[in-house]
Amino acid sequence: MTYATEYQRSIDNFEGYWQELAEAIHWFEAPQVGLSKDENDLYRWFKGGKLNTCYLALDHHVMNGRADQLALIYDSPVTGKKETYTYRALLEEVARFAGVLKAQGIEKGDRVIIYMPMIPQVTFAMLACARLGAVHSVVFGGFAAHELAIRIDDAKPKLILAASGGKEISRIVPYKPIIDAALEKSKHQPQACIMYQREFVKAEMQDGRDLDWMELLATAEPASYVTVDATDPLYILYTSGTTGRPKGVLRDNGGHAVAMYSSLKNVYGIKPGETYWAASDVGWVVGHSYIVYAPLIYGCTTILFEGKPIKTPDAGTFWRVIEEYQVKVFFTAPTAFRAIKKEDSKGELRAKYDTSCLRYLFLAGERTDVATLEWCEQMLGVPVIDHWWQTESGYPMLANMAGLELQPIKPGSAGPPACGFDVQILDPDGNVLAANEEGTVAIRYPLPPGCLPNLWEDTARFKESYLEPYPGFYFTGDGGYRDEDGYIFITGRIDDIINVAGHRLSTAAMEEVLASHPAIAECAVVGVADDFKGQIPVGFFVLKAGINTTEEEVEKEVIQMVRSTIGAVAAFKRAVQVERLPKTRSGKILRKIMRYIADARSFNPPSTIEDMQVLPELEELMRQKRIGNLALTK
Ligand code: COA
Ligand code: AMP
Repeated sequence: MTYATEYQRSIDNFEGYWQELAEAIHWFEAPQVGLSKDENDLYRWFKGGKLNTCYLALDHHVMNGRADQLALIYDSPVTGKKETYTYRALLEEVARFAGVLKAQGIEKGDRVIIYMPMIPQVTFAMLACARLGAVHSVVFGGFAAHELAIRIDDAKPKLILAASGGKEISRIVPYKPIIDAALEKSKHQPQACIMYQREFVKAEMQDGRDLDWMELLATAEPASYVTVDATDPLYILYTSGTTGRPKGVLRDNGGHAVAMYSSLKNVYGIKPGETYWAASDVGWVVGHSYIVYAPLIYGCTTILFEGKPIKTPDAGTFWRVIEEYQVKVFFTAPTAFRAIKKEDSKGELRAKYDTSCLRYLFLAGERTDVATLEWCEQMLGVPVIDHWWQTESGYPMLANMAGLELQPIKPGSAGPPACGFDVQILDPDGNVLAANEEGTVAIRYPLPPGCLPNLWEDTARFKESYLEPYPGFYFTGDGGYRDEDGYIFITGRIDDIINVAGHRLSTAAMEEVLASHPAIAECAVVGVADDFKGQIPVGFFVLKAGINTTEEEVEKEVIQMVRSTIGAVAAFKRAVQVERLPKTRSGKILRKIMRYIADARSFNPPSTIEDMQVLPELEELMRQKRIGNLALTK
């Protein structure tokens, strides 16, 4: 079966194609329909189908010959621990933890927030929720109290599941003070917090609210799986939007299971029984899809790696894991390899390990620059495949589908569209553009199974953000073009979302923090090009008149404010004072122009600009302050 014929078939017979793929998973009751519309006039997949995602990931394999195969490998260079779980052992852990949740009254449809680092218990927690039909919402450990509080108020969880802390390269991050601070801010209060105590950091427990994970587990009875509908929610994952309020991306059970199974097989080209490794974090969509759900649903062995590409203990750690666990397919963000390359550009550490087991390296989260792609090819000697997706899609929309038929690799491109995704490049009026014309990347609606059917309790925002900009299409927020061979090149976000070290962040959220500084009259935060992290946020602020403070003081204070409000992961380390910001005559700040100046990209100033003179002033200031690519110019 070739990619070209399969792709055409998936577009010509869109619904039938996905219905056929749905036959590969074990339904308790197979769906009789593919697409249908719900009460919000939105498309849903496989209505009427009955299943359980945890059953698919565990029980099904235990009953079908995989009980003694490794399901999960936990490798933690930050704590020196390694653990392995067979499918049987993982099922036991999950069923027992589901018993803990059940004893707390958790039922189908209840929300549970999970705020945990990369330890096996996070996997138990996610799968235990799925087992009971509860809806989990994992919050990345790098987010601070304010971000956690927003998510608590939106998801309204019955429980919070957390660990006492995480370990970063050079510091311990205690989670409990963050949870306590978040619960002080949030209106919604969960009935309890279940805390998993780690030996290197102890959580102070609050009587009447906090419960000890291990104590509850000691008396828990294993709980069985419940039957859910294909359209019932599996999880909510909050992701940065263009305002300070994150979007609660909703994932259903049925479409998701089909998408996970088929993408692992057809995109990543791995076989059941083999080891698949995604070095990411469960707090991001990559972690949900390709650390937890897809490898387990497909019967692979997955790796939960609690470490970084460098300094844990060195830049050879990825190669070591590949060799030690005979990883067949590896997936991470390009920034991780830029970090390794910076420390070991000649590959001396690389030479110490035998990675001949590896078949493919997949990269996503940000565009893979050609230099990084070539370096990885040179280091590994396997196809290095850039592919493109988003939290919203949950799995690749553009990809060289290695499992189907590997196409030639074009450096700089995220590949041709994945089967089932009708990807088009549109002009501002919604017309489909011809080859090599740059525009907005859009996907014809309805989207394939597994992609977000809606936002959590916010249909209006879903329609407004994704469906209304280009009727008949899903708006991705990315710009790009298609070449004459059908390969698509993503040129970056066309909104104010940025990607810092593969982490999606909202500049609007950072602006809200800066704007709350008493000395700041107005401000803008833009993502500027960075050799290492891809992009980094830089703040520009105008001081209020008559304020007796220095630029340096304000910079120091806003850096600290962003860190304690949004989190260290924002990597907000620069803020500069400007006399004024570039604006349109109607007062809109021209952030995109500011980004183009910093990146030393050419642009046409809009005719609506208030004062053209502000642009050379800003450019000179950025050059002096060594911001973005202007740091490289004289
Ligand atoms: N909990 C708490 N803090 C966290 C955190 C977490 N889970 N993850 C990151 N942070 C902190 C870091 O410690 C750092 O703090 P610092 O300012 O005190 O140094 C800050 O957030 C910024 O982190 P990061 O941007 O990751 O920078 P880094 O210099 O620590 O590491 C890389 C750089 C490239 C090694 C790292 O970003 C990486 O491994 N990236 C891969 C990204 C990835 O997996 N993306 C998922 C999509 S595939
Ligand atoms: P997230 O929702 O965190 O997965 O971030 C999604 C965004 O990351 C996309 O909208 C893109 O802007 C960017 N992105 C992800 N993968 C790629 C890629 N392979 N090439 C270019 N941009 C990417």
